[in-house]
Amino acid sequence: MTKVQALGYLGLRVKSLEDWEVFATEILGLAASRQGDAVVLRMDERAHRITLRAGDDELDYVGWQVAGPDALGEVAAALEAAGVPYRDDAGLAELRGVRRLLSCTDPAGYRLEFHYGPTMLQEPFVSPTGARFVTTTKDGADTGLGHVVVLCDNVDETTEFYRRVLGFAVSDHIIPVPGLLLTFLHTNPRHHSLAVAPIYGDGSPGINHFMVEVDDLDVVGRALDKVHQRKIRQLATFGRHTNDKMLSFYVQSPSGFGVEYGANGLLIDDETWSVVTYDASSYWGHVFDPA
Ligand SMILES: [Fe+2]
Repeated sequence: MTKVQALGYLGLRVKSLEDWEVFATEILGLAASRQGDAVVLRMDERAHRITLRAGDDELDYVGWQVAGPDALGEVAAALEAAGVPYRDDAGLAELRGVRRLLSCTDPAGYRLEFHYGPTMLQEPFVSPTGARFVTTTKDGADTGLGHVVVLCDNVDETTEFYRRVLGFAVSDHIIPVPGLLLTFLHTNPRHHSLAVAPIYGDGSPGINHFMVEVDDLDVVGRALDKVHQRKIRQLATFGRHTNDKMLSFYVQSPSGFGVEYGANGLLIDDETWSVVTYDASSYWGHVFDPA
């Protein structure tokens, strides 16, 4: 079984690079730099964590990091065995600052970039808000930049692709309202790096939200203060999730989709873990669309 290691990076297409730069630095506490036509956001030693380019407010690509060349070879073999076409793209690897990169499209239509050897910068990451982002466990296991939640109209097929082809494991499910099943998947100790949800209500395919985690609840609280002060729309109030125990709030990004900002997320030990189904997303809070 192949094993993707972590959510290495995300690419977003956004209508306003300027609004995003302010949002990412002043609310989320990420460090931004302009690189050509892109705004590149850092949260740790990595040169690229979130890259913003001009476009139509959508998820551009999801970068899944593997451990090294052998693991990338295993991903290639698994994609071939599953009949999933992929590209080995040296030019794109160069652009993303990784040693080698394979790209494909998942069954839901999202572009994936499997890679190893991301660039680490000598220059230290300095958060404009003093945030320290959680991207490893205390023992040093890589837990990636956070998680991403995507909506799709073929949830079962998509979940099976991540499970059977890429080696993700189901963490648990939530049925927040009857008939709506959310599936959470992990690939390292972080409770989930990916969740897939069916399209519900008047929704359409796309990214629902991505989550970044900080190591201090006061940083979450101060970010929430700024959201209130600037009258930025919250998509869900402060609350605590049932499954990953995250204390977080959801804010509307300048692109419309959400960003979850939280602390105290649960880590999974596969030796003792079993899949359960929660009947609610949160123990308290996370009241949707309070505006
Ligand atoms: Fe989330």
